[in-house]
Parts: sequence; structure tokens; C-alpha cells
Amino acid sequence: MSRKVILDVDTGSDDAVAIMLAALHPEIDLVAVCSVKGNQPLANTTENTKRVLDLVKSDVPLYKGCKFPVVRDVCPWRIEFDNRATAVDENGKPFYIHQDFNSLPESTRKEEAKPASVFYAEYFAEPKDTTIVAVGPLTNLATAILINPDMVENVEELVIMGGGDIDANSSSCSEFNIFADPEAAQLVFQAGFKRIVLCPLDVTHKAMVTKDDCKRFVEIGTPAALFADKMCQTRIEVHTQCQPLTLPDACALHDPLCIAYLIDPSVITKMEYLHVDVSLSGMTDGATIVDHRYFQNNRNVHICYDGDRKKFVDIMCDAFKLSK
Ligand code: BDR
Ligand code: CA
Repeated sequence: MSRKVILDVDTGSDDAVAIMLAALHPEIDLVAVCSVKGNQPLANTTENTKRVLDLVKSDVPLYKGCKFPVVRDVCPWRIEFDNRATAVDENGKPFYIHQDFNSLPESTRKEEAKPASVFYAEYFAEPKDTTIVAVGPLTNLATAILINPDMVENVEELVIMGGGDIDANSSSCSEFNIFADPEAAQLVFQAGFKRIVLCPLDVTHKAMVTKDDCKRFVEIGTPAALFADKMCQTRIEVHTQCQPLTLPDACALHDPLCIAYLIDPSVITKMEYLHVDVSLSGMTDGATIVDHRYFQNNRNVHICYDGDRKKFVDIMCDAFKLSK
């Protein structure tokens, strides 16, 4: 039986692949997509999301979400890290892992009138067999919980890409999605969801996609497969120049791993149930603080630590074959 999913994205090169996987895979029944400020300003992430939905011919409703983090932008004294990994092309021109706008045709699709937070608050006014997958900053969810705190009881499962126990990418100790809106993340982690599964950098840096995997995408040759190849090629170049992983010619493809986990939970090979808090100040701003003490009694997050990267790629290939 397919799983009902609402996907929250800040599209984003890896978000784009997550959207395609969720829209195309028969095990996922995509109910709605919500956009949020993150990898790019809200106008860009919303437009980029529309373009990807057009590519996979999905008519799922799109709700535009929050334009600002809940607190961060009103704290000018906060430490700002500007260490966005910048690679250079053969002409010395800089490029980033996420483009302002992706290369797909401009979209004429209209978003729904309701803001994403209101949609969540109303949709989860009663119990639903629907899972939320959040792969951008957690601003939409935090504001939805402020509107309707009872909604947390009515969400089947919440799967988040974010944070890192050991690994980090936005500061020496924080990951981008959490660092971009730490207060929202702390609110979400402590809100009392029935089950939170976290895919942090510790697992997404292991579930890598390689140049050989990209060849499989090219062989499949559908619009989704070719666009996934394009996203991965850019990401591989940036990883190679700025953030080498344990395999050569490979990239992390963080966001779709959350969808793959829902399709086949065995793609995650190591998971621990622990307590997670988010640091809200100073040098550790936005860090996920994981309590590993055995006597803790307030566990709130199932954290993924390892995954089967071959299975992950197979799952994506299965979905991309269905793109027309
Ligand atoms: C996360 O940050 C974003 O840049 C990616 O889309 C992913 O969701 C990885 O840290
Ligand atoms: Ca993302």
C-alpha cells in the first residue's frame, strides 16, 4: 500500500530529485508539496519546485510557505557563516551546488491560495494516515504548530533531512537546514510528534551517488533520469572541489534519501532512538546536540546513521523509469 506524503522543500538540487522520486514512485502517494525559504529565497524555491513538478507532470497542489525564519533574521548579532561551498568551472567561473533558478522551463503553474503553515494546521486538525517529509528549514512546520499545537498528534510520521551528530556543513558543528532556522528546528523536535525520523549528514554522506550511478540515469534516459543526472553532475563537481567524500567522483544526495526510506526502510541500515536538542546561541548555533547517555528517558528522535547506497540508487532508478 502506498504511503501518503506531504513534502516540504527548498528546491534546491537535491530537493528536485526528492520531488521527482516522491511524484513518480508507486509506493508514494504525494498529497501536497510546500515550499520554504532555504537554499534560495522563497520566490526561487517556489518557482524551482513548480518547474520540477511540471517536468514529472504532477498536478499535486503546491503551497507557498514562509519567506523568513521564525527568529534568525531579527537577530543581526547572530554569528553569520558565509562558507557556501563554491566550485569553479574550467574558465575559473564560480558555481554553487544550488542554482538561483534551475535550468527547466519557467512554469505557469499557480500555487494554492492558503499559506503552507495554514494548510498543515487545517489538514492535521484530525488524525491522518499522512507522513510529512521536511527537507528544508523547518519554518513552515514550526509556524503550523504555533497555529495548531494539537496537529502533532495527528501526523503519522515526520521524516526530516537535517542536522548532524558528527558531520557538519554550515559551521564547524551545524548543518544547513537546522542552521537556517534553529528556533524552528528546536520547536519541531520538542513538539511531541508520535515519531520523528532524522536523516542527518552522518547518513546522507554515506548514501552517495557516483558518476557510475549517473551513467545508469543516462541509460534510463527519461526526463526525470536526465535531470537527476544533471543535478548529480553539478553536485559531484562541488563535492570533489570543496567537500570530498569517502568515494571519489561522488556526491551526497541528501533529500531523496528521506523518500527512499519511506519506500523501503531497509535502505537505512543503522538507526538509534536518542534525544536531540538544537543549540540556539554562540559558536554552536544551529548544532544538533545528540544525547547518547544510556540512562536518558526523554528520547524524541530516531536518528539514521548508515544506509545502503546501492539500494538507494536502485529505488531512484525504479522511479525515474516511470517518467514520461
Ligand atoms: C541540506 O541543505 C540543503 O542545501 C540541501 O538541500 C539539504 O536539504 C543538506 O545540508
Ligand atoms: Ca533541501
